[in-house]
Amino acid sequence: MNRARVAVLISGRGSNMVALLEAAARPGYPAEIVLVLSNRAAAAGLRHAAALGVPGAVVESRGRDRAGFEAELSALLALHRVEIVALAGFMRVLTEGFVRAWEGRMVNIHPSLLPSFPGLDTHARALAGGVRLHGCTVHLVSPGVDEGPILAQAAVPVLAADTEATLGARVLAEEHRLYPAALAWLAAGRVRMEAGRAVVDAADAAGALANPLPEIARLSTQPS
Ligand code: GRF
Repeated sequence: MNRARVAVLISGRGSNMVALLEAAARPGYPAEIVLVLSNRAAAAGLRHAAALGVPGAVVESRGRDRAGFEAELSALLALHRVEIVALAGFMRVLTEGFVRAWEGRMVNIHPSLLPSFPGLDTHARALAGGVRLHGCTVHLVSPGVDEGPILAQAAVPVLAADTEATLGARVLAEEHRLYPAALAWLAAGRVRMEAGRAVVDAADAAGALANPLPEIARLSTQPS
């Protein structure tokens, strides 16, 4: 099987990157992670990548102009013959030129049900907004921040007692499940565009919408 060559771009913890690396280690997964790239030398994710035997590289973005930073990024991606870029907690906004160059081949995971709550502090904003459903989205990257055709979403309930931390943990567990699935669809060539929307041709595409009701929510909705 010809596996798509993927670079994962991180800035910090790297738990989604680990989920992608673990998925890619399974037989039959249609992508291989050939490079982990961080724009922060201190990113904890780099250590996890090294422990899992995947080469990591740092292209420091602080104090750099965008053109120089992205030129270095592009050179590394070309050197490793990268075909798909997966952003996983990558906190640097990329220029329109870079995004266009990777159009249809760059994905991102965002911790909200887009188009609700683009940007930062999504869990706090979901709590403040009183929404009953929250979740995460994997999408193709377009020039606007947290914009682009949606590949997959997973929803979780927001419980009355939730804090930013408990809600964030519930969403993160879904991120780790959703991202490997969505990347697999893209890597296997199962994503096509139709009228500006991404359509997934996959037997398991039903997983593109998931609403796992946790035990605690099920119990509290049962009639007594
Ligand atoms: C995740 O919540 C992801 O959705 C967002 O940034 C966070 C990164 O976490 N884009 P990690 O570095 O993958 O643990």
